[in-house]
Amino acid sequence: MTTEHQAGAPSSTGAPSSTGAPSSTVAAARILERCDVLATHTSRSDGLIERVYLSPEHTAVNTLTAGWMTEAGLDTWQDAAGNQCARREGVTAGLPALLLGSHLDTVPAAGRYDGILGVLVAIAVAERIGASGTELPFALEVVAFGDEEGTRFGTTLLGSRALDGTWQPEWLKLRDAQGVSLAEAFTAFGLDPAALDTAARRPAELLGYLEVHIEQAPVLFDSHRALGIVTSIAGAVRRQITIEGHAGHAGTPWHARRDALAGASEAILAIETVARSTGLIATVGHLQVFPDAVNVIPGRVEFSLDLRGEHDAQRDAGWARITAALGTACERRGLTFTTVQTHTAAAAHCSPRLRAAMAAGIRCTAQGADAPELLSMAGHDAMAVAAITEIGMLFVRCTNGVSHHPDEAVTEADVAAAIDALEGAVLALAAEYVQHA
Ligand code: GLV
Ligand code: MN
Ligand code: MN
Repeated sequence: MTTEHQAGAPSSTGAPSSTGAPSSTVAAARILERCDVLATHTSRSDGLIERVYLSPEHTAVNTLTAGWMTEAGLDTWQDAAGNQCARREGVTAGLPALLLGSHLDTVPAAGRYDGILGVLVAIAVAERIGASGTELPFALEVVAFGDEEGTRFGTTLLGSRALDGTWQPEWLKLRDAQGVSLAEAFTAFGLDPAALDTAARRPAELLGYLEVHIEQAPVLFDSHRALGIVTSIAGAVRRQITIEGHAGHAGTPWHARRDALAGASEAILAIETVARSTGLIATVGHLQVFPDAVNVIPGRVEFSLDLRGEHDAQRDAGWARITAALGTACERRGLTFTTVQTHTAAAAHCSPRLRAAMAAGIRCTAQGADAPELLSMAGHDAMAVAAITEIGMLFVRCTNGVSHHPDEAVTEADVAAAIDALEGAVLALAAEYVQHA
């Protein structure tokens, strides 16, 4: 039987394993308690979770996570981009590392498992392997990325882009909603932006990256499976779109109106139509109306577009059709539009080797050989890390597939299965590594 975990719910306990490491049931209960603890570190006063990059809450969760990493027997450090890192040496010191991890930042009004679960499962696996006395033929590292969501500065994956060495210096000029630049935020956090390149890892230092994450659509949930293997992560682009009309008195007759909000409404529906007909997913999640008054025709509207597809070419072709639809709508209404790209991430594919390792890991659980494969329409740190090493991802069932919402929920049994599967995947890679050495 599985029990859905809710904030403050009592955790179950399990028997310790024969190695002295906590059983995966005990470890899962502890992970859920830790998710509750991390959820209290929020910048909001309405009880909802929001924790953004380089904030005081980011410092607090890095400190807590570093403590748990130390308890797990790992050596810890915070890198120059604010990612919280840890390492256990392999059979000899200085070997290349298998990297495990995910992120600790959140969207506004977030759930408590997106990203966080993956970090805590990684720590639990590193602890269990250490406690079992297993000496791996490689080092094991855990990374808790500081920014995957892009909530504060609009550009996502800042933590993992620092680690993969693709950080763009101009990002330091990005400003948050309060006007604080990314460079200023670094200094306030106690980090030197000039040292950012020291966070970059070299491909030769890494053997691969494994990330556990909740699913963010009800695929496993609907098919009654606890775990699934990700095949690839959809490519995404984000654009800021501005439609300009002419502000004026609400009593202006129809023929003389150039209403930017009416144009934006038409454009948003056109975006939906194009995306649906081309197999893409599109979200307009932020919209601002100027001058934003009840008796003034909207003169300008700014809105965001997040566009995702399994293949980059398919996504870019969809964007070309959206641009044409925007042009048609604006021309008919006497409006103009401009667009600025704020984010782009190429689709990333999980490597056959790491997918096979995840399948071997799932075979260590009650799910056995039943390992469904899924495409991720959500972005993940893995898509950045793919620039420097092979990636593999394991999805964990999430109640109703709901994510980016306070209702995100997982069961203790599924978390225990994820621990067993990730540990099994690491051990399968170790066995393969020894065999090919
Ligand atoms: C992150 O969760 C994203 O997919 O935007
Ligand atoms: Mn997310
Ligand atoms: Mn995430």
